[in-house]
Amino acid sequence: MNFFQEPFTFGGLTIPNRVILAPLAGVSDIPFRRICQELGAGLTYVEMLSAMAIHHKNKRTLDMCARHPAEPVLGVQVTGPAPELVEQAVRFLNTLPFDTIDINMGCSVRKVIAGGAGSGILSEPERITATVRAARAATDRPLSVKTRLGVSRRAISIEDTARRVAREGADLFTVHGRTRDEKYGAPADREGIRRGLAAARAAATRSLITVGNGDLLDWPSVRAMRDETGCDAVMISRGALGNPWIFREVLEERIAHPTLEEWGDVVLRHLDYQEAHYGDTELAAIMMRKHVLWYIKGFPCNKELGAKVGYIKRIEEGRRYIREYLAQWPGDLLRFEGAHKTESRFGPNSKYDPKYEMDRVHDRAVAEE
Ligand SMILES: Cc1cc2nc3c(=O)[nH]c(=O)nc-3n(C[C@H](O)[C@H](O)[C@H](O)COP(=O)(O)O)c2cc1C
Repeated sequence: MNFFQEPFTFGGLTIPNRVILAPLAGVSDIPFRRICQELGAGLTYVEMLSAMAIHHKNKRTLDMCARHPAEPVLGVQVTGPAPELVEQAVRFLNTLPFDTIDINMGCSVRKVIAGGAGSGILSEPERITATVRAARAATDRPLSVKTRLGVSRRAISIEDTARRVAREGADLFTVHGRTRDEKYGAPADREGIRRGLAAARAAATRSLITVGNGDLLDWPSVRAMRDETGCDAVMISRGALGNPWIFREVLEERIAHPTLEEWGDVVLRHLDYQEAHYGDTELAAIMMRKHVLWYIKGFPCNKELGAKVGYIKRIEEGRRYIREYLAQWPGDLLRFEGAHKTESRFGPNSKYDPKYEMDRVHDRAVAEE
């Protein structure tokens, strides 16, 4: 059994391996989580929820709290502008069937920070302590925090944040190796992650699992994260968009692109899960468009296909285009032949942000009330 295949336990919860799918707003819904779980993700999370939206019993937010019976383990993530609101939200989430609860202290979306949530907390260190303390008092379930290195390069605060989080009794700590101001414009700083994780371990009052995040796009980048930061586990984000095979790749510790047949099976299954979850509706199709656009990256002649799948109005249309496309190519065609293609998808240093392929109304409702 290799490093990533080994189980780990935090706060009494055992996770079967060390490869986690991040909470991804607009993306990590039931259909996508199930696909990632089937391809090896040991732990997945619901999209980030707003404590304010929970307070107001926002329907869309409550709908996001659903768990599919086939999901083996599931975490939830919440963010809020004040410890009391986070505490209230955690008490509510504690009544639902989630295995673990994460507090987001890293989101850099402008409207989230403007409301004092996400990485807005990083300029108020006392609020970090108070928020973890309040959340800890509100749940016995495994509790974690996900954050960034600081507000900016001139205000790196990760070691201080790490100590505050660890002292207040978090069971797991994830560091995304960028500052809030960097967005995706700089490569993930693995030395910064290493320092943050080490500070958390040193200050921990109970056993603490450390997780590295940022620019994990394939097996070599995951290996570098493990070797250079000493993390216990990795959390995959953009690397899973259109490429859920990354979980299998990491568990097998080798670059392993799907064959055309495997690719087709998974894309068609994702379309089925989408229809089962959202119904045979236009909304299901609109929310699926981005996934199909991500799936077809790295294949030949995907421009023509993109021009069609980017506008589907029903899931069935998506199935038809994918089947037609599959029929065009020899079965032994591999996706992403040549690592350079994987590199060019998202970076490092690429300014490309997957949100450009997301729908403004349907996919980007983070922290709405
Ligand atoms: C579409 C999208 C949605 C995201 N939503 C969340 C979220 O809900 N919660 C969270 O903690 N991070 C969220 N993130 C940030 C990622 O989890 C991750 O920290 C960041 O993308 C860096 O990792 P990467 O370079 O491997 O993508 C999101 C990122 C993207 C691209």
